[in-house]
Amino acid sequence: MKNILITGGAGYIGSHTAVQLVKSGYNPIIVDDLSNSDEKVLDRLEEILGRKLSFYKGDCSDRVLLEKIASAHDLAGIIHFAAFKAVGESTEHPLKYYKNNLGSLLVLLDFMRDHQIKDLVFSSSCTVYGQPEILPVTESTPRKDAESPYGNTKKICEDILVDFVKSKGGVRVVSLRYFNPVGAHPSGKIGELPIGTPANLVPFVTQTAAGIREKLTVFGNDYDTPDGSCIRDFIHVMDLADAHLRAFEYLGKQDNNFYDVFNVGTGNGNTVLEVITTFEKVNNVSVNYEIGPRRPGDVVKIWADTDKIKTVLKWTPSYSLEDSMRDSWNWQKTL
Ligand code: NAD
Ligand code: WQD
Repeated sequence: MKNILITGGAGYIGSHTAVQLVKSGYNPIIVDDLSNSDEKVLDRLEEILGRKLSFYKGDCSDRVLLEKIASAHDLAGIIHFAAFKAVGESTEHPLKYYKNNLGSLLVLLDFMRDHQIKDLVFSSSCTVYGQPEILPVTESTPRKDAESPYGNTKKICEDILVDFVKSKGGVRVVSLRYFNPVGAHPSGKIGELPIGTPANLVPFVTQTAAGIREKLTVFGNDYDTPDGSCIRDFIHVMDLADAHLRAFEYLGKQDNNFYDVFNVGTGNGNTVLEVITTFEKVNNVSVNYEIGPRRPGDVVKIWADTDKIKTVLKWTPSYSLEDSMRDSWNWQKTL
């Protein structure tokens, strides 16, 4: 069984990917410092999987810890999720973001070279496209100047990976540009754990429906979109998890010193108001919301062109927006 190191594997996307890896015969080794997750996730994962997982609590930029892991497990590759991801916080504390998001990647690349670990899947983001002129966005749509230090870390990490591959660093890398991950494991045992007031739409919707937040504000309904609210491409986290498996298997067929990038979205855009009404309909609950002013810096509309990932990785999403809203609510009820 191939061992894959999952940095940030106790987090939202990493935990779902760990489940899908085990289901496909891989052995995930999780390293997470729990800076944005809870150790209970490990128990939940073990409940879902019916087996123990190897978990190392600590910083994936800690080379001593990485050496300890390498001496205990023969690693076939790494999926690097660990990062800070709060856009607002990144504008207040940019150095914290550059240090963690860039620093961890640099340490991991050194570690991979020294141990001849070839394969890396990196968590990038559609944030690298900013507000694109032409929709949907393909992987060759030009990247824009980042709107936030967080977004810039993703752009710089992609550049670091390209340069490292060009230098014949001996690795094979896929960057996955996630669109808007939503939903949760259908069991309701794992999901997104927003700490404090959620900045993202769907956790705010579920918390409002649950009565934790009094009211959801829709940030603008006067944009140039069918109902005036912004458009995003909402991808179910289980589909997103599967994309990592496909990416990993694809890397295994490539020559050394290889880099590629894929959009991971559904290929469809939905408006914020559509998300709210879909949530209300599938769950038969109402969400107290009001229309408020636009959020500064918001992208008006973006969705993915998914031809490349469908053709090359043979990946297609299988969950609908309805599934995502049902699973998000199911998870909120567990919380
Ligand atoms: P998350 O915060 O739920 O998971 C990240 C995990 O990494 C957390 O468990 C955190 O404790 C851990 N972590 C952070 N720094 C660490 C370090 N130095 N060492 C060890 N563990 C560390 O976030 P997520 O939503 O699962 O995101 C995973 C990745 O996907 C991130 O790189 C994020 O930037 C990227 N991404 C997320 C989204 C999104 O909307 N969720 C969209 C695009 C890209
Ligand atoms: C979605 C839509 C809001 C909350 C963020 C990051 C980006 C990427 C994905 C990681 C927008 C609207 C939201 C609310 C609202 N993450 N909204 N009321 O803007 O696509 O991007 O997540 O890489 O970097 O910036 O996601 O969930 O914040 O917002 O009306 O209370 O919902 O205006 O149109 P976004 P989001």
